[in-house]
Amino acid sequence: MTEENQDEPLIIVSNRGPAKFETGPDGEMVISRGGGGLVTALSGLVAHRDALWIASTMTPEDAEVATENGTEPVEVELGGVEYRVVLVESDPRAFDLFYNLIANPILWFIQHYLWDLSNAPDIRLEEIEAWNDGYEVVNRDIADAVIAQIEGRERPVVMLHDYHLYTAPALIRAARPEAVLHHFVHIPWSQPDSWRVLPGWIRERIYDGLLANDIIGFHTRAYCINFLSCCEHLMGYEVDYEDLTVSHPGGKTAVRSYPLSIDAAGLERAADSPEVAEAEAELLARRRENLILRVDRADLSKNVLRGFTAFDTFLSQHPEFREKVTFVAHLQPSREDVPEYAEYLERIEALVAVVNHRHGTTDWMPIDLKVYENFHDALARYRHFDLLMVNSIFDGMNLVAKEAPVINTRDGVLMLSENTGAHEEIGDFALTVNPFDIQDQADAIHTALTMAPEERARRARGLKEAILSRTPGDWIDEQMADIEEVVLREPGA
Ligand code: G6P
Repeated sequence: MTEENQDEPLIIVSNRGPAKFETGPDGEMVISRGGGGLVTALSGLVAHRDALWIASTMTPEDAEVATENGTEPVEVELGGVEYRVVLVESDPRAFDLFYNLIANPILWFIQHYLWDLSNAPDIRLEEIEAWNDGYEVVNRDIADAVIAQIEGRERPVVMLHDYHLYTAPALIRAARPEAVLHHFVHIPWSQPDSWRVLPGWIRERIYDGLLANDIIGFHTRAYCINFLSCCEHLMGYEVDYEDLTVSHPGGKTAVRSYPLSIDAAGLERAADSPEVAEAEAELLARRRENLILRVDRADLSKNVLRGFTAFDTFLSQHPEFREKVTFVAHLQPSREDVPEYAEYLERIEALVAVVNHRHGTTDWMPIDLKVYENFHDALARYRHFDLLMVNSIFDGMNLVAKEAPVINTRDGVLMLSENTGAHEEIGDFALTVNPFDIQDQADAIHTALTMAPEERARRARGLKEAILSRTPGDWIDEQMADIEEVVLREPGA
């Protein structure tokens, strides 16, 4: 960064912040870490740079904190990292429409190809209102908070994150033409036709909103190409597939890939805690010969149902594995006010009951479904799996596929969907599966559980090396280097 910028904190902006305030069982204020890949990624960034994090309030207690502190940052310490956070409260109805109707499901479903187009989505007055009175309102609130924080700064750097904030950049740009705006999208960018479920004017708001950024970042080059193709085919803008740039009425925007990596040292430290040791002891006391594991948010994109059907098929085709294998599915509840998510969880529970009934015995439950959030328990399970199932339909990166192999102690095998961002980097050492092909996944379970120890060791080594070859520092440094180039240019050049 240039000298005058160095002393100024980076402004990070995302919907979910690093910490969530809640009331504990005894009425005390409890602070917990926000879930999901985005918070994990940005926590690494904050540990390295002076940053101010602007985020929406997610709980009533967050809202209280927002009211008490206004535009003054709140200091929070979590897992050894100090955060300075400004929480922004939107009108509750606006936030509900923004989060539960537009961001999840509409945008999330488009970008993960989850819509069943002959049935949904319907764009009615309800959705149009949710866009106008929800998504746009929350983006305006967030943009205003950013504008207030960067007041008086000559060339502020603002890093926005994800699909919740596609229209905010244009609002910030209008107020501060010389600001340096960078936007990282943590989820896939889908191909042009998937966006055609949205009315043209909403698409224009999204693309023109995002293109107000100087740089847009994705996890993979494939998502960059999809984004350029959308700008060309949906917006009629001139794009350069070599330089990865889009020329539009507001100027030129660069599109770059920055694959996210994990904080292996931090993970090892967390895995060495007494809480994890306790969870491990319990797991080991009850484990069968083989442990299949999945750890995910309970999200439709994760393909949990087909994963269980594949296990069901495997057990039918290989009865010799009965009573010798347990499939632990640790699912973290997510977006429970979105009807599609609530229904998905019901279908998961029903399918688990069917599979357990079909194959289980009085002292063996083939699928052990755990629906709750607990980081330490997840780490204990990471340590002891024989097969980790990551069979996502589509997934921006998938950090579980990178975290679990690093601390696993059994040369566990990774089953990895070819449609995850992680597959570009570590697919060579995984058992690649097509997420729709249930027989392929059932065969991969068998291959993993019968694999020779030397082959398991070779793959586990390869996985660890590939994962550790990048650090979260690289992810940040690459973005900062590109930002610096923009900072050094004349504003608007
Ligand atoms: C993914 C998204 C994040 C989101 C996280 C958790 O990682 O990319 O933007 O924060 O999921 O989802 P939630 O809706 O709980 O914030």
